[in-house]
Amino acid sequence: MTKKIAVIAGDGIGKEVTPVTVNVLKAAGADFEYTDFDLGGERYLKDQFVLDDDTVKELRGFDAILLGAVGHPDVTPGIIERGLLLKLRFDLDLYINRRPFTSPNHDFEVIRENTEGVYLGEGGVLRKGTANEVATQGSINTRLGAERCIRYAFEIAQNRQQKRLTLVHKTNVLIYAGDLWERTFNEVAREFPDVETDYNHIDAACIHFVERPQKYSVIVTDNLFGDILTDLGGAVSGGIGMAASANLNPERTGPSLFEPVHGSAPDIAGQDKANPIAAIMSGVMMCDWLGEMESANRIKKALVDINIAGKKTSDIGDQVVNNLQS
Ligand code: IPM
Ligand code: MN
Repeated sequence: MTKKIAVIAGDGIGKEVTPVTVNVLKAAGADFEYTDFDLGGERYLKDQFVLDDDTVKELRGFDAILLGAVGHPDVTPGIIERGLLLKLRFDLDLYINRRPFTSPNHDFEVIRENTEGVYLGEGGVLRKGTANEVATQGSINTRLGAERCIRYAFEIAQNRQQKRLTLVHKTNVLIYAGDLWERTFNEVAREFPDVETDYNHIDAACIHFVERPQKYSVIVTDNLFGDILTDLGGAVSGGIGMAASANLNPERTGPSLFEPVHGSAPDIAGQDKANPIAAIMSGVMMCDWLGEMESANRIKKALVDINIAGKKTSDIGDQVVNNLQS
């Protein structure tokens, strides 16, 4: 049956890489029907609308959401990020963020917890604007939240050739949250005796990402560490323009959301300069999730000899479509 895809191109380069991705999906023969949603910073500047519960309800009627990027330089940081992207991650319970990274030298995947930690926004400000101002920003970690993410990561690791899972945290400083994560990790590990386990502090993991990324197979980490580490993952894997991601609700009680790791990049927006590969690969992850394996494999094959150096966004898209048709 034809799957319904909600498309949120969003802002900046999201508006450029998303249509390219939809064209590629169409050329690959994916059995999808697309509906555009005008959401993001630009929409907010027009009529102050970010995202309401009715729209989330409408989005629940779709099989998946394809998102480009959100965030606008003229909108106060947080309004769109929290009000749109994080609201979708939380409301749709997209608790797994899969971020795979490959290069000729390595092939690993970061499983980022996607609904907790500092992202929940616990905290507040006192005496704002005074010399005695106080700001707190808490990190919320639940046993359930850590456990379901860690178990999913073990399952991914178990299905890989290199059955190894590394927990990344900062247990030497974050003694409460880190301890909860480490104990949960060690307990869940007993269910997966064939998966080798390892632990790295986040700072050390940053060095390993640069100096010996081939040591990793699957990494599981919390929301903020995962955010930062996956930008570095992109940087060591051909650039952030190559990094795809899937925000998943593994129980499939609602649509999952697929988006490149990069942001709206206002500095290069509107210049047909953005690398659309991350968005296209996010589309491939969407195909895999929705059982469109043939389209996924066709696109992966079409990407193999794509030349992106110095190429325009639209030309790269055309190259991929040509490869699909030849
Ligand atoms: C990402 C982005 C988001 C995040 C922003 C836009 C809220 O950086 O998906 O990595 O921090 O999760
Ligand atoms: Mn990020």
